Amino acid sequence: MHAKDAHGYFTFPKLEGEIGNKMIFRGKEMLIWSLNNYLGLANHPEVRKVDADASKEYGLATPMGARMMSGNSNLHEQLEAELSSFMKKEDTILLNYGYQGMVSAIDALVDRHDVIVYDAESHACIIDGLRLHMGKRFVYPHNDIESLQKQLERATALTENTNGSILVITEGVFGMSGDQGKLKDIVALKSEYDFRLFVDDAHGFGTMGKTGAGTGEEQGAQDGIDIYFGTFAKAMASIGAFISSTESVVEYLRYNMRSQIFAKSLPMPLVVGAMKRLELLRTQPELKANLWKIVNALQSSLKNAGFEIGNTQSPVTPVYLNGTIPEATNLILDLRENYAIFCSMVVYPVVPKGIIMLRLIPTAVHTLEDVDYTINAFSKILVNLKAGKYEGDKIVTA
Ligand SMILES: Cc1ncc(COP(=O)(O)O)c(C=O)c1O
Repeated sequence: MHAKDAHGYFTFPKLEGEIGNKMIFRGKEMLIWSLNNYLGLANHPEVRKVDADASKEYGLATPMGARMMSGNSNLHEQLEAELSSFMKKEDTILLNYGYQGMVSAIDALVDRHDVIVYDAESHACIIDGLRLHMGKRFVYPHNDIESLQKQLERATALTENTNGSILVITEGVFGMSGDQGKLKDIVALKSEYDFRLFVDDAHGFGTMGKTGAGTGEEQGAQDGIDIYFGTFAKAMASIGAFISSTESVVEYLRYNMRSQIFAKSLPMPLVVGAMKRLELLRTQPELKANLWKIVNALQSSLKNAGFEIGNTQSPVTPVYLNGTIPEATNLILDLRENYAIFCSMVVYPVVPKGIIMLRLIPTAVHTLEDVDYTINAFSKILVNLKAGKYEGDKIVTA
């Protein structure tokens, strides 16, 4: 209904200039808190050079065709081997896009005899994968391990009849609220129930764990993750994704994932670029240290200033406010026009009615001054919000 008025401001905004903590929005420089450029790799000089050199050397056409037919290369296989060794898994398959890869992996991994048990707050790519599943699927409330256990009991009874298996799917870091999936608790259930665990760690890969290998490493549960998904679109600031697992699962996926068999393989510059990013992620721990310096400063300052940030356990930083949708738009307008701060706004139906969620993504290229400036501005808009200054009966237009 409001698409036309919102277009370009609240929806489909255009951020221009070099990717970083400051970018240009509608001709004005703004402090940006909405890019998943966690490690600051998007504009890292070594990354930019490798991307440019690889594009010059290979163009965007190479290799031609699907991996299975004519689109394979030594470099694709080398990147897979490097990811396997980093993830401490036997084998890895590259995916062209994370979203499409998750959907397709779920489709490939189960058949009508199998049962999927999944977290209620799973990302759209998991939900869409479930839509392709011909067997039963049981949902459990977000991170509710007792309910998961009940669903595993139901699933066990059912698969005993169908001779099928159980696949549990959850996320490492939930991208809206920032809390972690309870991977360790889920893995512990393996002593009682027979299932495989598939984890979408889009936001955890590169940001969580001692080496950056993700939320499984963070929780000491990496070995219990049977199928690990990571994307290049967030901490790696590129395009593409991967699944790491046992040799037999990955080999099975190579011959059964429709999104990879029936689509052109990842262009060479993305493969070479991913290798460089992985090298930096492994060899420059200061990138992750910088990220966490900003994360910790931002989250503790928000809490100290009286903001509600929920239960985040990752860089994803939600700020929950109370207000209507018209208030949310007035507040964002104030934040952008008068404070030059750009962050994402999330309203009903993604969050309950009456809640405004501002979602901040700190990165390694933010500074402590950026944090202070933002806390100051947020404190002022909170006073305005509480005083009813953003009230209105319609969604504002910029
Ligand atoms: C949890 C999760 N899974 C998968 C994806 C999809 O990844 P990609 O951008 O590589 O398609 C995203 C990105 O939005 C995500 O947040």
